[in-house]
Amino acid sequence: MTKVLIATTKPFAPVAVEKITDILKTAGYEVILLEKYSEKKALLEAVADVDAAIIRSDIFDREVLEAGKNLKIVVRAGAGYDNVDLPAATENNQVVMNTPGQNANAVAELAIGMAIMGLREMFSGKPGGEMRGRTLGLHGFGFVARNVFRIARALGMEVIVYTRYSKAAAAAIGLKVTHSLEELYEKSDIISIHVPARGEHLKSVSYDVLQHLKDGSIIVNTARKEVVNEPDLVKIMEERPGIKYMSDVTPDCANLFEEKFNGRYFFTPKKAGAQTAEANLNAGVAAAEQIVAFFENGDKTFQVNK
Ligand code: 3PG
Repeated sequence: MTKVLIATTKPFAPVAVEKITDILKTAGYEVILLEKYSEKKALLEAVADVDAAIIRSDIFDREVLEAGKNLKIVVRAGAGYDNVDLPAATENNQVVMNTPGQNANAVAELAIGMAIMGLREMFSGKPGGEMRGRTLGLHGFGFVARNVFRIARALGMEVIVYTRYSKAAAAAIGLKVTHSLEELYEKSDIISIHVPARGEHLKSVSYDVLQHLKDGSIIVNTARKEVVNEPDLVKIMEERPGIKYMSDVTPDCANLFEEKFNGRYFFTPKKAGAQTAEANLNAGVAAAEQIVAFFENGDKTFQVNK
């Protein structure tokens, strides 16, 4: 019998677990649920004799993938797959997929929420600002950014974007594409980062780019901490006392923020962008359906380690 592991240190909402289980059981598969595990040992044991795994930000490194002797497919229920060692999976003939777009609205709503929180001076009672009329710069234009764009437009914002790969998609909806990242940072009141933690995006938010920010601007990061050069961010925040940083990922240098930037930053205690029942349902159900389609029809549509 095909065995599917659901391994989530940060569990899905119960309604999502129920629906995922239902889809897999209807296909005749056995479901093994490993939630809130704190030790890698538990994951290594659980993965040992399963055929498939549904995960979130759970680390599937070479050791875990190799421990999955029967493991044929890993589906990351979400967008970013920087937690999976793709070369190792490819070497083991294991297919890795994500579920693009499924949790995008949840992350976009958090990005907008954090932007408002920053503009309103962390709801401290100090006079803040309004979104309407301000310019929002989208750094990247994937599914999350497109949802941020939709919401920002409704709030009466000007929206501009810097993207290399989705220029046509942006232009098609009348969105102004800047010539460079520097231009995006220079023209925006609020920057929302939406690029993955790989390739040229790693540490792409560097001093060269940040120095173009206006004082008083807000950076919202619902992507990954790896896309920001943290020492450069600290440097610019020291130089410009009006800049704020709102992030769904706690930076490695969080202690420096505590020391130096009181009232100018916010970090969610645990990555919370996709933590809604709706996003869990959408991404979890997509993952379960992709696994069934893979085993029943050989469907590899969302494979990321091609
Ligand atoms: C993603 O990449 O889809 C988001 O960062 C959500 O990650 P999570 O499933 O760990 O909350």
